[in-house]
Amino acid sequence: MKKRLLSGMRPTGKMHLGHLFGALGNWTGLQDKYSCFFMVADWHALMSEYKNAGCMKEFIIEMTADWISAGVDPDKSAIFLQSDVKEHLELSMVLSDIMPLSWLERCPTYKEQLREIKGKDLTTYGFLGYPVLQAADILIYKAEAVPVGQDQLPHLELTREIARRFNHFYKGNIFPDPEPVLTKTSKILGLDNRKMSKSYDNFISLSDTADVIKKKASSMITDPQRIKKTDPGHYDICNVFSYYNLFKPETADEVKAWCKEAQKGCTECKHILADIIIKHLEPIIEKRTNLLKDKAYLHDVLKEGAKKASDVTAKTMHEVYKAIGMK
Ligand code: TRP
Repeated sequence: MKKRLLSGMRPTGKMHLGHLFGALGNWTGLQDKYSCFFMVADWHALMSEYKNAGCMKEFIIEMTADWISAGVDPDKSAIFLQSDVKEHLELSMVLSDIMPLSWLERCPTYKEQLREIKGKDLTTYGFLGYPVLQAADILIYKAEAVPVGQDQLPHLELTREIARRFNHFYKGNIFPDPEPVLTKTSKILGLDNRKMSKSYDNFISLSDTADVIKKKASSMITDPQRIKKTDPGHYDICNVFSYYNLFKPETADEVKAWCKEAQKGCTECKHILADIIIKHLEPIIEKRTNLLKDKAYLHDVLKEGAKKASDVTAKTMHEVYKAIGMK
C-alpha cells in the first residue's frame, strides 16, 4: 500500500511561474510514489477573500486546468475541491475543541499576515483557525507526506502537535505524524528580483499571451553595473541568467560568455529569453486553453476526485467518533 500524500492551494488568483516551478514541479513527480490527494482549498481562500468570494468559482476551474496542464494526472491522483468533501469541516470542528487558543495566537504565519496584509480585515474567528482546518485537511487522509513550501512549516508543526494531542486524549493511535516534502526545485524570483508573488504584480502567469510574456521579459532587471552595452556583464547576479538556467540549462555556458564578454546587450538577451519561455510554456498553455473549453470535463474531474477523497474521509471520521465515544 502506498503512503498517502496531501497538498493544496488556495484559489485566490491566477497561477504563475512561481507555482509551476515550485509546488507543481514537486507534485507531478510524486504521483507514482504516493497515493496523492490534491485539493483546491476554497474554505481557506474564503478566510481571507470573504469580501470578493464571487471570483472564486472561476479561479477554481482555472486552477484545476492549470494543474492538469502542468502534469497532475486525474487518473493517478485525486483532484478535488475542499468544500465538496464535508468531513474536512467535521474534523476541523473536533480539532478546534482541543486546540489551545495560545497555539493559534502565537503561530508565526498568523502574526505575520495580520501585520503584512493591508486592506483586508483578518481579525476574525475564522482566520485565527486557519491552521486548525489545515490540520484537518491533512489528518483526515492520515497523510504522511505533505509537499509544501517553507512558509507552511509552522502549520505542519501545529498539525503534528494537534495530532499527538488527539491521539493522547482519546487513546487512539489514529493519526500518523505527517512529514513535509520540501520543494527541491530552485526558487524563481519575480521580474523585479523580489519573491514572485501575486501581490507584487511581478510574475509571468500561465494565462499570459506571447506578447505579454515578451513585454514582461523586457522589463526584467539585469546587472545594474552594466550601463553601456560594451560593459562586461555579471551573469552571476543577473535574474535573467537564472531564468535561462531554469528554462534551458543547456544554454547557460553560451549566455555566460555573451554576457561577460559583452557580445550581446541585455535587451537582446531578454528577447531571446522571452522566446525560450514562450516555447517552454507553449504546450502547457495550449493544454490549458483546450481544457478550459470543456468546463464540464473539469467539473467532472473535481467530482470524481471528491468521490475518491470521500471514501477515505468517511472512514477516518468514523474512527474519530468512535475514539471520542461520541457516536
Ligand atoms: N495553506 C496552504 C497555502 O496557503 C494551502 C493549504 C490548505 C494546504 N490546506 C492544506 C497545504 C493542506 C498543504 C496541506 O499554501
